[in-house]
Amino acid sequence: MSTRTLLLALVTASIALAGCGERQVSYSRDVAPILKANCAVCHTPGSPGYIKSGFSVASYQDIMRGTRNGHVIAPGSAVGSTMVRLIRHQADPTINMPKNFTMIATEHGSIVLPGVNARQLPEHDVDIIAKWVDQGAKDN
Ligand code: HEC
Repeated sequence: MSTRTLLLALVTASIALAGCGERQVSYSRDVAPILKANCAVCHTPGSPGYIKSGFSVASYQDIMRGTRNGHVIAPGSAVGSTMVRLIRHQADPTINMPKNFTMIATEHGSIVLPGVNARQLPEHDVDIIAKWVDQGAKDN
């Protein structure tokens, strides 16, 4: 490999790496699966978090609608978004998210009971959600 080719390869590699940092977070590819795995058990119609707050993660529109009291996402500002503060554990400790829960089997199926403590999402997942909000919380 000539020096020139090597140099070109290095430049291309660093451009590719720099590009990674600016990657657009996708709602459907990156964010929805995290919310589905960690929040949907309590935040879909009929489940405890939904009954108590009105907040559903069932669809993009539901997330943007927020709770009965208003929006929890401020597009463009993770710092100003209640949902991000909750998953960063910067909120009132009693409402940090996701809550722990126990599943209780009944003859009519299982019910979810929210626990008192909150779990912390992996840092990586929190960052993805915060970045998505900072990038405008788009339906992408
Ligand atoms: C075990 C059930 C449970 C899980 C899992 C859960 N929540 Fe909640 N959530 C609740 C309950 C119950 C409330 C009502 C407030 C309270 O009682 O703490 C609530 C309230 C909320 C609110 C409204 C807070 C407010 O200001 O009124 C948001 C936003 C929220 N949850 C987001 C999430 C997100 C995001 C996740 C996943 C990362 C999640 N929740 C996971 C049970 C849960």
